[in-house]
Formats: sequence, C-alpha cells, structure tokens
Amino acid sequence: MRSPLGLRARSLQPSATIAVDARAKALVAQGVDIVNLTAGEPDFDTMPAARAGGIAAIEQGFTRYTPVPGIAELREAIAKKLNDDNGLEYKAAQVVVSNGAKQSIYNALMVLLDPGDEVVIPTPAWVSYPEMVKLAGGVPVMVDTQPNQYRLDAKALAAAITPRTKVIVLNNPSNPTGVVYSDAELRMVAGLAVSNDLYVISDEIYEKLTYGAEFISIASLGPEILDRTVTVNGFSKAYAMTGWRMGYAAANPEIAQAMSSFQSQCTSGASSITQHAALAALKGDQAPVEAMRVQFDRRRRYVAGRLEPMPGIHLDGMPEGAFYIFPRVDELYGKQVAGIEINGSVRFAEALLERSRVAVVPGLPFGSDRHIRISYACSLETLTEGMDRFEAFARSLADGR
Ligand SMILES: Cc1ncc(COP(=O)(O)O)c(C=O)c1O
Repeated sequence: MRSPLGLRARSLQPSATIAVDARAKALVAQGVDIVNLTAGEPDFDTMPAARAGGIAAIEQGFTRYTPVPGIAELREAIAKKLNDDNGLEYKAAQVVVSNGAKQSIYNALMVLLDPGDEVVIPTPAWVSYPEMVKLAGGVPVMVDTQPNQYRLDAKALAAAITPRTKVIVLNNPSNPTGVVYSDAELRMVAGLAVSNDLYVISDEIYEKLTYGAEFISIASLGPEILDRTVTVNGFSKAYAMTGWRMGYAAANPEIAQAMSSFQSQCTSGASSITQHAALAALKGDQAPVEAMRVQFDRRRRYVAGRLEPMPGIHLDGMPEGAFYIFPRVDELYGKQVAGIEINGSVRFAEALLERSRVAVVPGLPFGSDRHIRISYACSLETLTEGMDRFEAFARSLADGR
C-alpha cells in the first residue's frame, strides 16, 4: 500500500522535545510534584479591557465572518500602534490580521517563497521557523550566532547569502536567547537585505517585554527596508492572549494583498470576537502590560542571579527581552544520572526531570545542543523551588555524584 502521507507531511520533523514533554505530563498525571519551567506563554490573565471587548462582541452579535484581513477599526488601530510605538509608516490597508503571529509568519513565507528559495535564520531560533520554511517549499539556512554571543555578525550572515536567498527571518527580541538587537545590528541586516535584494520577516512578538535595552523595529530604519520588511507582531505575549489567537503582519501593499488572498483560501478572517477583544486591548489602559513586564523583569533577575554561581552553568550575557533564559549546560555532559547517559540537551532535560522533577526545554530544537531553555513565565515561588532543585542537580553532576 502506498503511504497515506505526502512528501510534505513526511518531511515534518517530529519535535525533539516530545519525549521530555510527554514524560513530564505523565508524571504530573501520576500526581508527581513537577516544577514546570517550559511555559511559552505569560502566566497572567488577559487584561480586563480585552476580556470585556470579547464579551461585548458576543453580546452585540459580532459573530459573523469578517473581512479576511480584519475589521477596519482593528486594522486602523494596529496601523496607529505601529506608527506611534515603532515609527513605522504603515497604513491600515497594509495590515493583515491573522490567527496568531504564527499564521502571519506562515502567510508571509507562503507568498514570498518559490520552491528552493533559501531563508537565512540566525540561530538559536524559535523552533517553528525552519519547519515553516520547509512547508512553504523553501530551504532554511541556519547561521549560528553562538560564536558571537548571540549577536548578529555581518560576516557570518553575508557568508550565508547565495543567489537563492530570498528572505532573512529576524526574531527581535529573541526566543530563546532573549537578545534584543541593537541599532547597529539592525542597520547591518537592513544593508544586507537592500544590497542583496532580500526580504525580511521581522517577528516582533516579544516587543513589549524588554528590560532596559531599546527595542527598534528594523522597518523603521528607512524607506528601503520598510518596503522589504514584513513586520509581524501579535497579542499573545504583550496582552497575555495566547488562547485568543490574534496576530498581524504589515507589509508593502503587494505583499499584504497576497497574504490576504492566501489567507482567504485557508482560514478566512480571524475570529470576530477575538478581533473586538484585540481592539479593546489596544484602546484600553496599557498599565497591565507594564505591570506584567515589571514582574517578568524581577523574575529574570532572580533566575539569572541563581544560575550564575551554579557549577557548570553559564550565561553568555544577560537576556534583555522575552521571558526565557538560555543557559549553557554542556560542561555537565558526560555523566550518568537515573540510568540516563547525559550526552546532550535532550538527555540533560530528561535526567533533570527524573532526578529533580524540574521540566525545561532542551536547546537542540532551537539549534543548540549545548543549552537548555528556562521560562520564567511562572510565579517567583515556583522559580525559587525550581532553582533550588536545579542547583542541587547541577551540584550533584559537578561533584560526580
Ligand atoms: C518567536 C515567536 N514567534 C511567534 C510565536 C507565536 O505567537 P502566536 O501565539 O501569536 O501565534 C511564538 C510563540 O511562542 C514565538 O515564541
């Protein structure tokens, strides 16, 4: 019998973290006390204004199909936000609202790429980028930023560009490294894009969560790069709205129109209720966003302060954005714990779970097998317990126990 699955489905990578994830869930189901430091979403409630906006939409009967790229008021409000907050001169007609930033990125790749086109992705990077590139027929080209402390290196990027390169994907601030790119780095990327006739997908979903470093949208650096950039953002992280599914992209009119047409054949417009909730979030009091950021900053400093003195654990620079810390742990590889030979980040995470009941995400799927990702999107009490357990684990490995 021939395979029920086509090539596309067969080429999808099973997630390297599935085994660790499944084991953590099984342990929780058995009632084992696990400290979960894997969350990819804020542990805060959606702010009252957005909730009220969603409820009002239901009550008022805004429950039908919307225009594919979004309701006019929301596109206007997003264009205003991009102008006011980010210095981006987009008009409402250039905004396409989607079911999460994830869909916006996928829409962009689907309309920008031809089969075989190459997409440069600085790594460590969010796990979905290379898989989405492949689904869209492209070829991901990973550029390792580790030798440069996760900063963008002009030489390394230039060396990765070939005549087949069409797109550079930037994630600013970065999941998992927490890097926020500087004006100089972004100007360098913009220069490469313009001189090599490339497009940039700038995923700015963690924009509101920065801790001192100035956030700059690459498309704000001049009209040429504005024209070549698809700016992606959303409500999941800044407004704690992951379950509502609301993201957006803004781009030059030709690209925006194509993304809207593509979306019209896949999913149509995003949920009408969510669009009204998002509109209310943008128009409402922004104090909850800042309150959340302040909490994240406290936790970030706490976790970094705990990790720094631990034996065998290295922080190559302090994360400046998002809500993750990405310590290097490979000095502790080579030991055996709970019957597990620790020979990489997946085994490290497994051993940490078995021995100390702490769940983290291995670095491997992000493009570094020397690291693990710790999320601080959980309470300080949880982080304290997690760091106590993690420290005991690191010490036992370092002491060879
Ligand atoms: C870098 C990055 N981009 C995009 C997303 C997806 O966001 P959304 O919930 O808007 O689809 C995530 C979610 O974890 C992310 O980490």
